[in-house]
Amino acid sequence: MNIAILGYGTIGSGVHQIVEEGATLLTKSLHVTRILIRKGKEKTLPYMCDDIDDIVNDPAVDLVVETMGGIEPAHTYILKALEHGKHVVTANKAVVAAYLKDFNECAKENNVKFYYEASTGGGIPCIAGLEKALRIDEVDEIHGIFNGTSNFILDHMQRYGTSFEEVLKEAQRLGYAEADPSADIDGYDVCNKLRISASIAYDYHVPDNFPVFGIRNITKEDVMYFKSMNRSVRFIAKTKRDGDRYSCVVEPILFKESDLEANTQDNYNLISMHGKTIGDLKFYGQGAGKLATANAVVQDILDILEGKEHMERKYENKMKYDTTICRRDYV
Ligand code: NDP
Ligand code: HSE
Repeated sequence: MNIAILGYGTIGSGVHQIVEEGATLLTKSLHVTRILIRKGKEKTLPYMCDDIDDIVNDPAVDLVVETMGGIEPAHTYILKALEHGKHVVTANKAVVAAYLKDFNECAKENNVKFYYEASTGGGIPCIAGLEKALRIDEVDEIHGIFNGTSNFILDHMQRYGTSFEEVLKEAQRLGYAEADPSADIDGYDVCNKLRISASIAYDYHVPDNFPVFGIRNITKEDVMYFKSMNRSVRFIAKTKRDGDRYSCVVEPILFKESDLEANTQDNYNLISMHGKTIGDLKFYGQGAGKLATANAVVQDILDILEGKEHMERKYENKMKYDTTICRRDYV
């Protein structure tokens, strides 16, 4: 399978690394044949290019990996690739949250796949887990820690007494943060991931009209005060449904020391869901980072290579937003 990577930053280069290393028979059958970089940037590899048309018009390219981030031109390039009969795999939650329904429809019309496991929970196979749960149950609640950068900040302020600004810089250096880290600390990244998860769970394209409270104003002193009360603050996204009514919220919440959330450290995420017969399910792992996230991208590529179908959603349900369903939790 020949792959083109759009955007050669943390995750794009991680995908390239996993494919180049070819550690298993399956990954050995993947080949990166084109990489899209920005116009004017130095082409450090012979197969780098700066024109999307060179990629979509190349009959040898089977699959396009989009790891540029943001809405445009990612949205246009993904549609272009699908319309040219290329499968698309992306890690870009902003564009997936906004255009999930359109991308699915376009992929279906062109008889190709559009997969996006890495867009939610980094390396954690939580979309796969959600889709599996939905084969039997209605998933009526999803909640948890969906952002590695903010978890790294809150955890390191508490465990090492580091200031917000210093930890954020470290999270950026480690490749966890978004190009504009305000998306991480103001909650918009989490909002996108919650929209994606809830959209799949409810088979309804969830809009972004719910409350989002970030962690920008939480200081080291606040965190130390919470610690003195045996509490840890974590940045939580939550959605619940009751029949055709649902609500969503993103907010920092205090947890007791014994809670799993309080023990979720560094760039890890903890994503929980509930269904009638499965009960509580929890997914834990690295929610951000180069190789863990690239692993999730490559898993999607291998699913396409092996013909493994992901759950088909039409997003035709009619749901009503009802603020009474998700009460806000302070402690
Ligand atoms: P980076 O900023 O490290 O990489 C993005 C790359 O894309 C950069 O090299 C950038 O170039 C390039 N790029 C941007 N726009 C264009 C364009 N128009 N044409 C060509 N190249 C372009 O981001 P990440 O790799 O961290 O993230 C990529 C995506 O993966 C994002 O959507 C992010 O949300 C998602 N993601 C990231 C995770 C992480 O842990 N980092 C985890 C899960 C998902 P330049 O440097 O010149 O801007
Ligand atoms: N910036 C994101 C985070 C990347 O820190 O969780 C993973 O989606």
